[in-house]
Amino acid sequence: MRMRRKRHMSERLEKIGDRLLLVEGANFYDRSEEEKFHPFCWAEVFGNENPVEVEIGCGKGQFIFEKAKRHPEVNFVAVEVISNVLLTACERAVKEDVKNVKFLNCNAYNLPYYFTYPVARKIYLNFSTPYPQKSYAGKRLTNPKYIKIYSGILLDGGEISQKTDSRPLFEYSIESFSSCGYRLKNISLDLHNSFFAADNIVTEYEKNFAEKGMPIYSLTAVKP
Ligand SMILES: C[S@@+](CC[C@H](N)C(=O)[O-])C[C@H]1O[C@@H](n2cnc3c(N)ncnc32)[C@H](O)[C@@H]1O
Repeated sequence: MRMRRKRHMSERLEKIGDRLLLVEGANFYDRSEEEKFHPFCWAEVFGNENPVEVEIGCGKGQFIFEKAKRHPEVNFVAVEVISNVLLTACERAVKEDVKNVKFLNCNAYNLPYYFTYPVARKIYLNFSTPYPQKSYAGKRLTNPKYIKIYSGILLDGGEISQKTDSRPLFEYSIESFSSCGYRLKNISLDLHNSFFAADNIVTEYEKNFAEKGMPIYSLTAVKP
């Protein structure tokens, strides 16, 4: 059964081609630092010098596909730790022939192995897992240790856009960004009924929450 699943997986991977740039895989943490290091030159990857934007925790990619279609003049890198979910996104990219999105199957914590210079003008954190338990705060994608990683990827003045249904995560994120010197703007406690709703691209999770009438919290954090 496991063999069949593996074979099925490698067939899927073959069809995706160069859209999926990297799969960390289960043995990642057994590798030496040198082996983990895999820096990308983003202009080479995309074959042009267009601006770069990154989504972290892209899920099946609903947001990034809509973004990419609206902005063919931008290169998008979508990051997701769960392989199966990301494969579905990659397959959609092939099916819809979306060329300006590339995917990394990795933990966001390891991004410094792949982004070795500031290149992104924007990072998107859409409905990141809230990890409500205090003991899991280190896993939250707005924990200061992650924000330091984003600072290494973002250009000066670059921005992080966050949306969430979780008020505790939102409040935690405001504190985290502030403690890292980020300036906050465009804060909304009810994105869908705000001035910012017009440009909003609804993600998979967001659709679910909005249909239940839950408010969506959003902000933009500007790199110092
Ligand atoms: C709640 S889902 C939201 C998916 C999508 N952004 C949306 O709004 O529909 C959060 C996603 O973040 C991914 N994720 C959580 N922690 C991550 C990490 N450290 N690195 C990369 N992806 C992560 C999860 O696997 C999951 O797919």
